[in-house]
Amino acid sequence: MSVTVRVPAKVNVQLAVGAARPDGFHDLANVFLAVGLYDEVTVAPADELRVTCAGPDAAQVPLDRTNLAARAALALAARRGIEPKVHIHIDKDIPVAGGMAGGSADGAGALLACDALWGTGASRAELLAICAELGSDVPFALVGGAALGVGRGERLTGLDVGGTFHWVFAMAGRGLSTPAVFREFDRLAEGREIPEPVAARELLDALAKGDTDALAATVANDLQPAALSLFPELAATLSAGRAAGALAALVSGSGPTTAFLTRDAATAEKVAGALSASGTCRAARTAAGPVAGATVF
Ligand code: C5P
Repeated sequence: MSVTVRVPAKVNVQLAVGAARPDGFHDLANVFLAVGLYDEVTVAPADELRVTCAGPDAAQVPLDRTNLAARAALALAARRGIEPKVHIHIDKDIPVAGGMAGGSADGAGALLACDALWGTGASRAELLAICAELGSDVPFALVGGAALGVGRGERLTGLDVGGTFHWVFAMAGRGLSTPAVFREFDRLAEGREIPEPVAARELLDALAKGDTDALAATVANDLQPAALSLFPELAATLSAGRAAGALAALVSGSGPTTAFLTRDAATAEKVAGALSASGTCRAARTAAGPVAGATVF
């Protein structure tokens, strides 16, 4: 018997970052949109906890107990007094260390899959609480769609979305560490007053109306200057996507994946082709959103 869960990546259409808190985290106003790039997490009974991974970036994925999928299985097993004897296999399509919450997706996927495999019958609220313990972006991977995350980003309110948005994602040649990007944000912010992070009304309205032009005019990522400071070559990728016809170009989350909002699916294909040929990224992919969160097959 095995259970497979499909989990989407995310892009942050707005990532407003406040000052560093005493616990080292930052208060956020984080507007998440789930997009159609997926990891698949399959769990099956085994003699002991084991993680395997397949896909183009598989070599960069840790297979020990630091993997968020392993941590999710251990957390659920500990709560239920179950031995976590499970083989977790991740078919990875979301870029690793890319700012698209791929590790978080695997955590949410493994949690949902183990819940089904073990028949633990955890409530949605309990699953969300475990997700929040695992990481700031993990609850959103479970719920999908679009949501505003506050606190560390883990306290979610679902958002209405009135249409489909067409994106291109350009994968970079190397990853970026999220803590390093937040540290660079703090360094760049030194001596400046950092306002409270708030979601922009215009941006929430653009999502609700499904208005691509209005969304393109309001997307914003406060981590972008920090990501560009650590990875200056991303500026050329952003320019190449804009030149190819994207309505907006931004760094996805903490990067280094760059995200391009386009008018429609055909334009997205054109922009992806131009980015792939530009020599400014490793690969470019199209994906639309919103899509559903973690789902058992
Ligand atoms: O929550 P998660 O473990 O995914 O966060 C990874 C790192 O990103 C944290 O250790 C912290 O350095 C940074 N972070 C932050 N503020 C947030 C979320 C993450 O500073 N709200």
